[in-house]
Amino acid sequence: MKKACVIGWPIGHSRSPIIHNYWLKKYGIDTVYEKKAVEPKNAAHFIANLAASEFIGCNVTIPHKETAFQAVAKADEIARRLGAVNTVCLKDGVVCGTNTDGEGFIASLRHSHPKFSLMDKTAIIIGAGGAAKAIIGALLDEGVVKIGVINRTRERIHDLQMQFGSGIYEIGETISNDALKSCGLLVNTTSQGMEGQPPLELEIQSLNSNALVADIVYTPLETAFLANAKQRGNPVLGGLGMLLHQAVRGFELWFGVKPEVTTELYELIAADVQRAPKR
Ligand code: ATR
Repeated sequence: MKKACVIGWPIGHSRSPIIHNYWLKKYGIDTVYEKKAVEPKNAAHFIANLAASEFIGCNVTIPHKETAFQAVAKADEIARRLGAVNTVCLKDGVVCGTNTDGEGFIASLRHSHPKFSLMDKTAIIIGAGGAAKAIIGALLDEGVVKIGVINRTRERIHDLQMQFGSGIYEIGETISNDALKSCGLLVNTTSQGMEGQPPLELEIQSLNSNALVADIVYTPLETAFLANAKQRGNPVLGGLGMLLHQAVRGFELWFGVKPEVTTELYELIAADVQRAPKR
């Protein structure tokens, strides 16, 4: 059977091989998932010519997600909405692209907090980049009615308002107490709080104690932002679950088995994160 891979530049940090090789072994599928360092100048060619390669499909990570969107022959609706592809597969020899970041976030939330309802909630998203866009789209699909956006660069908030319409409102560069009071879900989509990055400094005293606080950062597994929310008694969601759940659909598309995100897999990746040298 053909192999699968993840492409990026650089690619050394990617944990996708551990995830997919765990599943390949678990489901008895006799192939491998590899890391492939692909230079930016070669990324479009690699994707467009996937059918002629040794790979059945691939994941795409930084900085190739937008290039992949341009290079696939067919991008589905989610990928078109985001202008970015993170999962590539072949359908009857045609190179197809999708994006599983948003569904990865939702699946992680449902897995960890099965009773938490998104219906008619108001959310606040910190950040307005690619990850924010993926999560906002998925939250709106799940019935969230209002989403306030906090971002350093205000124009990017306006871009999100243009794209997603009246459900999106601008909070600005920092949070307000009024915004916090009505918030049911608060999500950091920026790299603030990641090892080697500046911390996320946000006063959340006015946040309702049943509001769920999520972070897409998973290095460290629990950011200071989440630790603070947890200490206040809020339910919290770390970023590692999203990484695991976004991988599910690619595996299913390539190998025909919907894999399970088990506690064993979570602990395998968590241990790898904890072992990695701190930046
Ligand atoms: P991704 O695709 O991972 O979301 P991105 O598109 O580069 O990456 O977006 C990163 C987000 O994190 C942006 O919202 C960015 O803010 P700007 O739009 O103002 O650039 C935010 N971000 C990253 N580092 C930040 C920092 N030190 N302070 C505030 N915001 C930061």
